[in-house]
Amino acid sequence: MVRRIPRGEAPLRSLSCIHDLARRAKRRIPAFAWGYLDGGSGEEGGLRRNRERLDSVLLKPRFCTGVRPDCSAELFGRRYAQPFGIAPVGMGGLLWPGADLALAAEAKRHDLPMVASTVSTTALEDIAQAAGGNAWFQLYASRKPEINRDLLERAWAAGIRVMAVTVDVPMAGDRRRDVRNRFVLPFRPGPRFAWEVLTHPAWALATARHGSPGFPNLARYSGEVDGQTLTAFISSQIKDDLGWDDIRHFRQLWPGKMLIKGILAPEDAALALDAGADGIWVSNHGGRQQDSAPAAIDALAAIRAEIGPGPVVVMDSGIRSGEDMARARVMGADFVFSGRSFYYGAAAGGQAGAARAVELLASDLRRTLTQLGCPSWGALDGRWRWDGRDSPDNRG
Ligand SMILES: Cc1cc2nc3c(=O)[nH]c(=O)nc-3n(C[C@H](O)[C@H](O)[C@H](O)COP(=O)(O)O)c2cc1C
Repeated sequence: MVRRIPRGEAPLRSLSCIHDLARRAKRRIPAFAWGYLDGGSGEEGGLRRNRERLDSVLLKPRFCTGVRPDCSAELFGRRYAQPFGIAPVGMGGLLWPGADLALAAEAKRHDLPMVASTVSTTALEDIAQAAGGNAWFQLYASRKPEINRDLLERAWAAGIRVMAVTVDVPMAGDRRRDVRNRFVLPFRPGPRFAWEVLTHPAWALATARHGSPGFPNLARYSGEVDGQTLTAFISSQIKDDLGWDDIRHFRQLWPGKMLIKGILAPEDAALALDAGADGIWVSNHGGRQQDSAPAAIDALAAIRAEIGPGPVVVMDSGIRSGEDMARARVMGADFVFSGRSFYYGAAAGGQAGAARAVELLASDLRRTLTQLGCPSWGALDGRWRWDGRDSPDNRG
C-alpha cells in the first residue's frame, strides 16, 4: 500500500501549516502536476501580489476580553461551522487521484462548502453525494446553451442549491509552467513522462488504479480531449463572448443562489448585482489569469466600498491561513475560499492530507480570533484592522 510513510518522512500531523503541506505535495507529485497546481499566469505577478497584499493587512489584537470565539458563519440563510470553503478546482484528480471526493468528505465532516467545478475530474453528482448538503456548483458557460441548461438541471437534481458562474476566463490564462512542462491531455507517454512516473511512485500507483483523469461532467456532451493542452481544451469549450445578458439568462434558469466568480472591478460588481446575482465572488483566479491583475484583497476593499455593506461578498486568491481569512474579513468579506490550500493537502497525503488542510485552517482561524479578542467571525470587522499612523506598513 502506498499510504505507508516513507522512511524519514514526518507524519502529516507534524506539518504545521499549509506551506508545509505544499512542500510535501511538491515532492509527491510529478512536476507537470505541481506546475499546474502551483503556477500562475505570465511571470506570476498576480500570484505574488496576492501574498504581498495580504501580508500588508495588519490586525489589531485586543486582550483581556475572555472570549471563546464562535467561528461559524451564516451565508444565504444557512449556518456553516466554518467561514471558509473549498473553491472549484478543475483536474483535481491529476493532482491526487480521488482528491475531489476526499475533499468533499472533509467538507461534509467539517460542515463547509465544497464547490464542484465544471471541469472537475469527478462527476458533480458524485461530489454532491460525498459532500452531503455542502456541495455547490461552478459553471464555466459553454458555447452551447443546451449544455449550460443541462449542467444546471443536473446540479439542481443532485441537491445543489448554490451556483457560481465563473466570468474571469474569457480565454485560457498564459500558464507558462504548463507549456514548459508540456502538460497535455491525455498523458503522452515519452521519456519525460516516464521519468516523472518513475520518480513519483506513490502518485503513479494511485493514478494507475484510478485511470487517467477525464472530464466526466462534459464527457457526455463532447468526449474528445485528445492531444490538447488543458488550456486549449478549456478554450475550445468556454463561451468566450459571455455578456451580462447571459448572466440574466442563468439567473432565470437557476432557482437557487447565484454568485458571479472572478470579479475584480467595482463597476463589474455593481453590474453583476444588477443582472440578478445574489453575491459577488471576488477573485483573481489565484493569479492564474493575468500577470497584472490586482490582488484580490485590494479589489475586495474597493468592491465593498462601491456596493456597500448589504450584498454578499465572498473572496479567494492567496488565502493560506486563519490569519489570512481574518484579513479578508476586516476588508469586507462575508466568507472566504481557497483552491490550492486544500489540493496541496490532498496531494500531500490523500484523504489524511485533505483532512489536515481543513484542520490546520480551522485551528488557525480559532487561534486568530482568540488572539484578536474577537467573539465571532460575524463580529469581526474593520475595528480589528490595524491602522496605526505610526506603522510604516499602513502609511499611504
Ligand atoms: C489547479 C487549479 C484549478 C482551478 N480550476 C478552476 C475551475 O475549474 N473553475 C474555477 O472557477 N476556478 C478554478 N480555479 C480557481 C479557484 O477556484 C480559486 O479561485 C483559486 O484557486 C483561489 O486562489 P488560491 O488557490 O490561491 O486559494 C482553479 C485553481 C487552481 C489552483
